[in-house]
Amino acid sequence: MENPSRLILLFFVLIPCFFGLTFSAPAEFIHSSCKVTQYPTLCEKYLSVYPPAVQRSPSQLAKAALNVTANRALAVSNFIKRMPVSGKDPTERKSHGGGAVRDCLETLNDSVDRLRRSVTEVERMGRYGSRSFKWHLSNAQTWVSAALTDQNTCLDSLLQDKSAAGVRVPIRRQIVAVSQLTSNALALVNRLDSRN
Ligand SMILES: *[C@@H]1O[C@H](CO)[C@@H](O)[C@H](O)[C@H]1NC(C)=O
Ligand SMILES: *[C@@H]1O[C@H](CO)[C@@H](O)[C@H](O)[C@H]1NC(C)=O
Repeated sequence: MENPSRLILLFFVLIPCFFGLTFSAPAEFIHSSCKVTQYPTLCEKYLSVYPPAVQRSPSQLAKAALNVTANRALAVSNFIKRMPVSGKDPTERKSHGGGAVRDCLETLNDSVDRLRRSVTEVERMGRYGSRSFKWHLSNAQTWVSAALTDQNTCLDSLLQDKSAAGVRVPIRRQIVAVSQLTSNALALVNRLDSRN
């Protein structure tokens, strides 16, 4: 027969362990995962709100990073649309950097679309090593890389469009933040392939 006091002892040892794992490990997991990214502080700032959902899953974390980035890109697009200089009047838009502003809105729109596609690809990956895994991983990598290219196109356009001088700084700051988040998300996606 089991000794009841040993069961009770087991209870008091296991319960704290259980809660310790479920509540502190995800934060530690996010911390160590973000270390592989180029902007770890930014990575943690955006992903630390996710722990309960992403738990200890690298693919859940990658998905959250992609989704956060898509949401941010959409918010920046709305921010640019609300800027007085990108108002409805086309001549006004042109005289205040219409060309670059239009390019940035278009490329942000594409970015949101590509990042959302990459979320779907990560969802479809399935188990590591399964037949579909490499295919969907490669698709996700392609979409995220394309989103980075879009953001660089916007930054180039801002630099080249002399009439964008008045809006260059605030738009650039927002786009750079989105592209840092995108770079981080790509690192977390690439990392899915390095588990052996
Ligand atoms: C992505 O973010 C949006 C907005 O916060 C949320 O409604 C949606 O559930 C998220 N999707 C995934 C797959 O995490
Ligand atoms: C992007 O542009 C397309 C076509 O103009 C539009 O239907 C779509 O809603 C836009 N997406 C976003 C995220 O603004």
